[in-house]
Amino acid sequence: QIKGFVFDLDGVITDTSVYHSIAWHQLADKLGVTWTKTLEDGLKGISRMDSLEMILKAGNKENDYTQEEKVALATEKNDNYVNEIMKMTPANILPGIKPFLDELRSNGYLISLASASKNGPTVLDKLALTDYFPEIVDPATLSKGKPDPEIYVKGAELLNLKPEECIGVEDAAAGVQAINAANETSIGIGDPTILSEADINFKETAEMTLDAIKQAL
Ligand code: BG6
Ligand code: MG
Repeated sequence: QIKGFVFDLDGVITDTSVYHSIAWHQLADKLGVTWTKTLEDGLKGISRMDSLEMILKAGNKENDYTQEEKVALATEKNDNYVNEIMKMTPANILPGIKPFLDELRSNGYLISLASASKNGPTVLDKLALTDYFPEIVDPATLSKGKPDPEIYVKGAELLNLKPEECIGVEDAAAGVQAINAANETSIGIGDPTILSEADINFKETAEMTLDAIKQAL
């Protein structure tokens, strides 16, 4: 029986995945790495330093920079990203998310956040959604990022639930893999060909309601 929901943030609650992409694209251009749709999709859900490594690898440049230089590049990307999220307001919440969170709350489901982003709490604050997420997995405590299940296992643990009692919600292929590997039920939001491993697919956040989920299960 499902008792809780573990949410990804970027691309699920709000469209910050676009800001992440723009900021990485900018950095890739600067590094002379060709930006492709495959690279863009592959970066979704991936931690900051792992994302940088992925971009450098795509351009065969992973050995061209010292660790210190890599940290500086990742910091540059993050500064650009933070610049964008500071402009966000509750109007940036994706369609249907607020009513869905209210529906979960009024039906007694527990809610936690399993975002790889260290900016997660700031984004929730800008969206005025902090109250809905009493439990947030701190990505700094993880030994491995998505697609490793660790973040979703912790998301369930914070709610004192077993993984089987949780549904994870994701927009990234790496995230859906993490949910499945954690033994939770996965919802994939977005292109169903990219998220084909999800137990339930919705094309858009607006389609996600408790009724639609119950029907799909
Ligand atoms: C994930 C995003 O939620 O967080 C990724 O999908 C991002 O694109 C990752 O790289 C890490 O975010 P941050 O804010 O800690 O750099
Ligand atoms: Mg995401």
